[in-house]
Formats: sequence, structure tokens, C-alpha cells
Amino acid sequence: MALYFTKQSTLHAGIIMDGNGRWALARGLSRAAGHRAGVETVGRVVEAAPEVGIGILTLFAFSSDNWRRPPAEVDALMRLMGIYLEKELGRCVNQGVRLQVIGRRDRLTPALCAAISRAEAATERGSKLWLRIAVDYSARDAILAAARGVAELSLDALGSALGPPVDLLIRTGGERRLSDFLLWECAYAELVFSRTMWPDFGAQDLAAAVREFRGRERRFGAVPEKPMRLREAWLD
Ligand code: IPE
Ligand code: IPE
Ligand code: MG
Repeated sequence: MALYFTKQSTLHAGIIMDGNGRWALARGLSRAAGHRAGVETVGRVVEAAPEVGIGILTLFAFSSDNWRRPPAEVDALMRLMGIYLEKELGRCVNQGVRLQVIGRRDRLTPALCAAISRAEAATERGSKLWLRIAVDYSARDAILAAARGVAELSLDALGSALGPPVDLLIRTGGERRLSDFLLWECAYAELVFSRTMWPDFGAQDLAAAVREFRGRERRFGAVPEKPMRLREAWLD
């Protein structure tokens, strides 16, 4: 794990993969077909991530609130998750991807839990990209669980119990909300909202989001080192 934190140049990007349903609807397809197309995008983005300097990638695949969807859609999503894990395992190993699933496991089927454990064990040596897939995930639940688990409550203890801070948060599909994703970890994340529906998102869109991120000045509450150009212009 230390590797990811000593490489200052690699980013932690979080992606809210949204828009599968609308993408499908616009084409007269079923929502499940949209989710299948969304899985293809995951493959493309995982491959492209290290090339644009992403060392940690956290993908929001299924929120704890997504259980409220029709059972057939939930079923399709869960089945796709299992298929992805089986199908992409070899590719993950070859690409140096370490796969981890975050979120609750107790509401997943035993078969899916077994597939997750197999994938995590088989990829644990991957060091090129740490891929975290959020399934049955709620940031508020995660914060609550972390607070219950630490011996003594402090910012550091809670931060370590949760996970690495997010540098860049991307949401596709045009909505501009966090929908209970990595709320603590996104305290100082740069937010990039894309109108592109997830199945249409590609390596170039990912590169554009990272470029946008690199062009921003992160100040973490401090005063900028050099006065900002905008402010100079305003003072003239
Ligand atoms: C994202 O796409 C996938 C999940 C939330 C599981 P959606 O299914 O939310 O697609 P839209 O927002 O309805 O278009
Ligand atoms: C967020 O998308 C969850 C995932 C992408 C997995 P939703 O489509 O469920 O979010 P809302 O309902 O628009 O906020
Ligand atoms: Mg949505």
C-alpha cells in the first residue's frame, strides 16, 4: 500500500459511473443493455488510468440506495458484477491491477462474495493500479462503521480507517451531486462533471478530466503561493 502514497505524482481518481439507463433509453434498449455497455467502459478506463497518471481508481458501481431499483435491474447489475470479475481477472493480473471491492458484503450472494474474494486474492500483487470498486456502498455507512471501529476517535484514525483522499472526482451523465460517494475522502477533491453518459465515456474523456484537474490550483484553505491572475486583473 505504501507504494501508492510515496508516488506523489499518481492521483486518486473517483468516478461516479452514471448514465447507463439514459444511454440505453435513447437507443430503445433495456436498462440492462445500458449496464452491459457500461461494463465495456470500465475495461477501457481501467486500461487508460495508469497512462494518465492515476494510481488509485475508485469506481462507484452500485450504491446502497440502488437496492431501491426494480428487482430485475438489481439482478442484472449483480450478475454483471460477477461476470466482470470472472472475465477481467486475467486482464487485471496482466495489467498489474490490484482489485479490491469496498462496501457491504452481507447483502451480496455467496457466489458473488466468493468471486470477489477470488479476484482480490489473485490480484493482490498488482502495483500499477489500485482499482477499488464500490458495491453496496454508502459513504455515510462507511463513516459510521469506521467511527465504530477505531479505538480512539481522531481525524487521522478515521481517515486511515476509511481510505486514501480523492484528488479528482468525476461524475458522468450530467448530474452534479455526490449521491453518497466517498464523502469524507472527497473533502478537497477537485470535481469534474461530464455530460457524457458512462457507456460513451472513453480514454480521451478521462485524459481531458485529468488535464482539467492539472490546470486547477489546489489551495487546501491556504493562500496561493503566487497571486492568482484573476485577482490581479480585478485589482487593476
Ligand atoms: C449508473 O447508471 C449505474 C448505476 C447506478 C448502477 P444509471 O443506471 O444510474 O443510469 P441513469 O442515471 O438512469 O441514466
Ligand atoms: C449513483 O448513481 C450510484 C452509482 C453510479 C453506482 P445514481 O444514478 O444511483 O444516483 P442518483 O439517484 O441519480 O443520485
Ligand atoms: Mg443514475
